[in-house]
Amino acid sequence: MKIEVHVWDWPLRLFHWLLVLAVVGAYATGKVGGEWTDWHGRFGSLVLGLVIFRLIWGFIGSTHARFINFFPTFSRLLAHLKGDWHGVGHNPVGALAVFALLATLLFLVGTGLFANDDIAFEGPLYYLIDKDFSDKLSGLHIRSVNVLLVLVAVHVAAISFYQHVKKTDLIKPMLTGKKQLPKSLAPSSAQPVGVLRFVFSLLLAVTVVWSVWGGDPLKYLTPLAGVQTAQANGKS
Ligand code: HEM
Ligand code: HEM
Repeated sequence: MKIEVHVWDWPLRLFHWLLVLAVVGAYATGKVGGEWTDWHGRFGSLVLGLVIFRLIWGFIGSTHARFINFFPTFSRLLAHLKGDWHGVGHNPVGALAVFALLATLLFLVGTGLFANDDIAFEGPLYYLIDKDFSDKLSGLHIRSVNVLLVLVAVHVAAISFYQHVKKTDLIKPMLTGKKQLPKSLAPSSAQPVGVLRFVFSLLLAVTVVWSVWGGDPLKYLTPLAGVQTAQANGKS
């Protein structure tokens, strides 16, 4: 008999769908460039804030959001490959993809913060390093976009494989938080979201984004801000 189990807490679901929006936005504005580069910085910063939030939530979030409960250890992977894994949250192979996605996004924002486009846009931490190093990081930034594209393609393909071949709907639980599971797995349903823990994670993520923008994110909301910053730094 199957019963409904609450698996994904609402901050994790909100994180996921905002991340999809921010990544699509950052990708599109990065590719279009030109007058959309300021928006690239904004979407990129949203990705940064979301990933920082997720990293904290991985330690203090509710049961199935915690890394320790789905970390793909060798024994979990082996059990999953043998068909002996019976869990509730991300399966061990899915967990590998989750960590690969988060690591790639962290690398993308990390390099983006120091990158420049040789015209009028640079990341908010560009002023900390010299132009040659920034150029190298810009190259890595652009190349790591391809890694992200491959991972997202595998991610979406895996989910549609589950949907259409294994007839397991993973998308609805990512929207509602609830999964239909055998009764034996029911005790491991997620504990309630701690509001204080959520506020703490959110504040820390916002603080990181705020700090990388020098405590003044608004300066990048004005047109030609990139040009002014480049001039202020004495770089062309
Ligand atoms: C705070 C975060 C980010 C900042 C400050 C940033 C900054 C930059 C800069 C300065 C460039 C121009 C590089 C060049 O032309 O050499 C660029 C390009 C680009 N970035 Fe970002 N980025 C960030 C996050 C991201 C994220 C999360 C993505 C993921 C989709 C992304 C995707 C791209 C793409 C697709 C390009 C254009 C690559 C091309 O020309 O083919 N960026 N970014
Ligand atoms: C830019 C594209 C995407 C990115 C970067 C992304 C990223 C992620 C990440 C990081 C997770 C792990 C959630 C967590 O524990 O933090 C995840 C899970 C998930 N994503 Fe996405 N995602 C993307 C697009 C999509 C799309 C388009 C769909 C729906 C078709 C989707 C459906 C899901 C589902 C169902 C899960 C849970 C999988 C499971 O049950 O183990 N994602 N995604």
